[in-house]
Amino acid sequence: MPLPLPPTLTGDRIRIPIVAAEQQILPGAKTKLWTFGGSFPGPTVRRRAGHRTRVTFEHQLPKGVGELSIHLHGGHNRSQFDGYPGGLTKDQPRSLYCDISRALTPRQSGNDLLLSPGASKTYVYDLTERAAFQWYHDHRLDRTARHTWHGLAGMWIVDDAFEEALPLPRGNRDLPLMIADRSFDRDNQLTDPFSEQLRPPADGINGAKILVNGAFMPHHPVGPRRYRLRILNVSAFRSYNVRLSHGLSMVQIATESGLMPKPIRRESILLGPAERAEVIVDFAAVAGESVELRSSHRHPGRNTAGARSYEGALMQFRVRSERLPDHTRIPRKLRPLPKWAQGAKVRKPDQRWEITLGGGFSTKWLLNGRTFDPAHVQAFPHLNKTAVWEIVNRTTVAHVMHLHHTDWYLLQRDGKPPPPWEDCLKETFFVYPNEKILLAGHFSDYTGKFVIHCHMLDHEDHGLMGQFQVVHA
Ligand code: C2O
Ligand code: CU
Repeated sequence: MPLPLPPTLTGDRIRIPIVAAEQQILPGAKTKLWTFGGSFPGPTVRRRAGHRTRVTFEHQLPKGVGELSIHLHGGHNRSQFDGYPGGLTKDQPRSLYCDISRALTPRQSGNDLLLSPGASKTYVYDLTERAAFQWYHDHRLDRTARHTWHGLAGMWIVDDAFEEALPLPRGNRDLPLMIADRSFDRDNQLTDPFSEQLRPPADGINGAKILVNGAFMPHHPVGPRRYRLRILNVSAFRSYNVRLSHGLSMVQIATESGLMPKPIRRESILLGPAERAEVIVDFAAVAGESVELRSSHRHPGRNTAGARSYEGALMQFRVRSERLPDHTRIPRKLRPLPKWAQGAKVRKPDQRWEITLGGGFSTKWLLNGRTFDPAHVQAFPHLNKTAVWEIVNRTTVAHVMHLHHTDWYLLQRDGKPPPPWEDCLKETFFVYPNEKILLAGHFSDYTGKFVIHCHMLDHEDHGLMGQFQVVHA
C-alpha cells in the first residue's frame, strides 16, 4: 500500500470529531477503528509557535467507550487542557490498579476536565514551546492503552521562525511517520489484548504487525535528494531500533523537544514508546533503488525486557532515478540549548522518583511507593525555577518515563554524562533496570497539576504514574 499521509489542519480554530471509522490497513477487509476525524493517524495539526490554537474535540463514539481526555504530548499546556487522567466515574466505577476514592469531588478527581460521550470540549493551546514534532492521544485513567490501540492518536507539528530560516528539506520532503504495532483477527479487526490476566511485570502488549501512518508495510516515492523524516513511536510497549537498508546513514537533527544543538550522524536510533527522532536522509546515493526503513535488535545493547526492539522491515522508500537539484543542506550548528539548560549543573536532586513493583496480592507498578491517585501530589516545583530531578528504576524491566508540562535536559545516566544524542532537550527517557537518570527542567509556563508516568501504556494504566504541581515560589 502507498504510505497514507493524514490530512493537515492549520487553522486557529479546529474541530476534530472523535468517531468510529473503517480504514484499509491490511489487504482485504477494512478495519474498524476509533479515530480523530475519521482516520488513523488523525489529522496532522501544523501551527506556528506562539499562535493560539483552539481545538474542539467532539466525542461521538458509543456511550460504552466512556470518558476521554485528550493530551497534546510535548506541549506546554495549561493544566485544564493537558489531558488529565481523571478519577472514578459512573462509566468507570472502579480501577483495577489505582487506589482512588469515589468520594472525591469532580474537581478533586479531575473528572470536571474529562470529555464525556456526546459532549465536546475546546482545548486552548498557546504553543509557548519551541518548534517540535508532537502528537496527541487519549490519556484517560486505566484506559489509555485501549483507547490508543483502537486508533486515538494523531500528529502535531509546531513550526517557528528559527527553524524556517534553516535550509532543511520542507514541503513534501518533510515526512511525519507514525509507527504503531497492532494485532488483527482473521477478519482484519483489531484484537482485544487487554486481559485482566496480564499483570505487572508481564503486562507489556506487543502487536504482531507494524504499521506506518496506519498502513502495514507501506511504500512511498521519493526523489534522489535529502528528506526530513519525523519518526514517532506510538506503540504501547514495543521499541524500534530504526535504521535504513543499503548502509544509508541518518543524520539526527531533533528529538521530542525539537532541534538539537548540533546534528549527529547515526547508524541506528532506538525509540521507545512516545519518543521521536527527526533525521535527514539523503537518497542521492541510491537513485533508482528501493530502500527499507527497518528496525533491528541492538548488539550489543541493553536488551532487557522493555528495551528489546522489533526486528524487521517497517516501510519502503522507492527512489526515483532522475537527477534533481537539491538546495537543502544540514547546518553544522542547529539550535543552542536555552540558557537555563546551558547553566544546569549536576547537584543533589530536589525530587526523586523511584519505580518499584509492589502491591503484594495483585502486583502493581509503583512510583514513590504508590499508584496514581488524583488526590495525591508528590512534588511542588516552583514556577520560573530550574529543578533537578532524579528517576530511579528498581525493577527488572526498562521503563520509558515521560514528564508533562516542560522539556528536560539530561545531566547524567548512572552518574555519567549522557551520550551525544541525549545531550539536548527531551521529554521522554529510557530508564534501564537499576539505572538512575538525573534531569534538569525549567517550569516556565503555567502553574497547576501535571503528570509524570511511564509511556509504556499498560504500565501507565497499571499504576506507574504520579503527579506534581507547579506553584508560585
Ligand atoms: Cu503521551 Cu502523558 O503522555
Ligand atoms: Cu514502564
